[in-house]
Formats: sequence, C-alpha cells, structure tokens
Amino acid sequence: MLTKIIIEGRTSVEVPVPDEASNFPPSSVAVFYNPAMRMNRDVAVAAIACFSKNAPDYTYLDALSASGIRGLRIAKEVGRNTTMSDWEDTSFELIKKNIELNDLANCTAIKRNANVVMLDDSFDIIDLDPFGSPAPFLDAACRSTKRLLCITATDTAPLCGAHKKAGIRNYAAVPLKTEYYPEMGVRILMGAVARTLAKHDKSMTPLLSYASAHYVRLFAAVKKGINEADECLKNMGFISHCFGCGARKWKYGLAVHMEEKCPVCGHTTSLAGPLWLGRLHDSDFCGELHSEIEKRGFKEALKLIATCRDELEIPMHYDYHKLCKSLGITAMPTDELILALRDKGFRASRTHFSGISFKTDAGVEEIKGVVRELASKEKGM
Ligand SMILES: C[S@@+](CC[C@H](N)C(=O)[O-])C[C@H]1O[C@@H](n2cnc3c(N)ncnc32)[C@H](O)[C@@H]1O
Ligand SMILES: [Zn+2]
Repeated sequence: MLTKIIIEGRTSVEVPVPDEASNFPPSSVAVFYNPAMRMNRDVAVAAIACFSKNAPDYTYLDALSASGIRGLRIAKEVGRNTTMSDWEDTSFELIKKNIELNDLANCTAIKRNANVVMLDDSFDIIDLDPFGSPAPFLDAACRSTKRLLCITATDTAPLCGAHKKAGIRNYAAVPLKTEYYPEMGVRILMGAVARTLAKHDKSMTPLLSYASAHYVRLFAAVKKGINEADECLKNMGFISHCFGCGARKWKYGLAVHMEEKCPVCGHTTSLAGPLWLGRLHDSDFCGELHSEIEKRGFKEALKLIATCRDELEIPMHYDYHKLCKSLGITAMPTDELILALRDKGFRASRTHFSGISFKTDAGVEEIKGVVRELASKEKGM
C-alpha cells in the first residue's frame, strides 16, 4: 500500500494514496481515507472540545477507525483519552504507526469487531463513522455510551426515502421521498437512535444534527434513567404528507390516528415514521460550537453551524424553488420571502438543508399566498 503523510487540523496522519487505476471511491483502497470528510472531522474536534471542556477525563472511542484520523485528532487537538478500533489488519497497523507519528501517550489501538469492543466496555463518547449505515452498530453503541453519541450515516437513499425498503429494514421506520428529504433522513436516524437508547433505559438530547452533501450527522448527549427515556420517547411521532398540494402535518406518539385525506386539497395523504419530531439542535451548544470553530480556524464549517444555531425548530422545511415551480412563478431571494412571511406575522428562518429552503409556522396555502404576493410586487415594480 502506497502511503503519504498529510496534516489535518494539527495532526499528522499517514494515509493511503489511491493508485491511478482505482483512484476512487476511497473504499476501494486497503485503508479508507476520504479527504472530503475533513469538515465532518473538524466539527467533531470542536464539538467534543465543547462537550468535554470541564471533563478532561472523558474517554472517546473511534469505533470504525480506518487510518485513525478521527481518534488521532481528538487525542492530539482536544487531549482526550482515545481508543481507535478497526477489524482490518492493515488499518490496525496504520493506526499504531500514526499514534507513534504523533507521539501520543493517550491512545489505544484495538483490532476487533466494533460491536465486540462496545459490548465489552463503556466509553463516555462514542463516534460511529461506518461505510453506509450505522444501523448494525446502533445497539452496542447505545448500550456502551455514557454521555455522547456522534453518528455519521452515508446511507442517505434509505434514510431519505429514495430506497424505501432498505430504510424500513435498517431503521424500522417508513421514510418518504419528499421535497424535504434531507430532514426526513435526519429525523429517521434520530428516531432510530432514540428508540435504541430507550431499550437501554437511556435518553438523548440532540446537540447538533445536520445533513451535508452525502451524509447525515448527529451529536446527541446521552443520559441514563427510565423517566428520562420515557420523556425522550415523547419526541417521537409521524408525518402525514400530501403529494397533491405539499401540505404536511405531524402528530406526536407511537400509535396515532391521522387523517387519510388532506384537509387542504382532499388528496390521499402518505405517512412517514415513526421519526423524531423534537429539536434538531441545542442552540446554546451551537453558539458555543460556533465560537470554538472560529477559534480553531475551521472556516468551512462556520456557516453551517451558524445556520443550525439560528434555524427554527419546526418540522419540516419547504423548498422555495419547488414551490415557485408548482405555481409557475419566479423565485425571489430566499431572505426576501422570509422577511415577507415575518411581515405577515409568521415565524420564518433559513435552514442549513439548502440555500433555497426555509422553515415557517405558516401553512402551505398561507405560504403560497405570500409567494404569489411577493412575485406580483416584483412584477409591478
Ligand atoms: C468509513 S471507514 C472509517 C473512516 C474513518 N473514521 C475516517 O474518518 O477516515 C469504516 C471503517 O470501518 C471498518 N469496519 C467495518 N465494519 C467493522 C466492524 N464490524 N468492526 C470493526 N471495524 C469495521 C472498516 O474496515 C473501515 O476501515
Ligand atoms: Zn393536499
């Protein structure tokens, strides 16, 4: 395996060089390394620094470690005791080399199945960064974690409803492919995590949950306790979506009745869930995380975290351009629509899901009214 040494953050890491023929995907190389996930790792470094700022003794497990890059960065840049584990020989050897390269005394390398590592021991913080779905690791991770779960999922097609059957198999929930599909993915994953934690009498408080180009990411603070677990499950529910007019309704609960006909247009509605209907983020945590990211110079992540910090906690977002297309009119800048909605007395914000999406407490017909009014004002100018 041809390797080279790169520097990410303040950490040096020996990583494989893909040969010309196999160039991509990174999973075709003996040890996985994807430079495109740098921002994902930057956010992890800053988030774990914030989360453990008064607890330097917290332990961190990078359960699916590959080159070790994630765990090495937490050990070196945050100073936490880190365990890095991978079941592949080549990865295990590279992790050990990389610990030496950085002269780290607070690291342990393990060559074992991630589920066995997690069933054998508890860790304060567990990070799952699998190929595709984290589903095979959720049970052991929820059992093992004491304080924080960090989860990446790259199986966005099952989570967002494009591969519905795989979504149902992996997450025991029905996803729907709608205009707000990235938020569907985030909430289906969060719902599965909350239900798995509940099995272990644990609850979660989401600190940051986001969808980026090809993955979903979740940071959830974890607490032990049956009362907290019962309370946490109250955030679960269902979304009923109308593919006729775009109206959506949600109901909390795990055994709910929902209207079969859309109250707006009479079309038959479709149901998604059970999924997480609670908060996606803790805005205080995101504020602190934003300062930490600024301090550490992780420029690429600044806008994402600021938008997460400021977005409204209302499921599910609207796609402004799709709405305009359905009405046959041209879109204005998203900020103008947000201001127009606020002028009418509604709450409205941008979302991190895309630059043309927004959240509001206005109903679909009210939104369409404001969109039309804005377009005709522009025409009249
Ligand atoms: C996507 S890569 C991890 C990337 C790494 N976290 C990073 O930031 O570059 C997934 C890794 O999980 C390992 N893996 C897959 N299934 C495993 C299992 N059941 N137990 C241990 N390692 C596993 C693979 O060998 C691979 O190295
Ligand atoms: Zn409808």
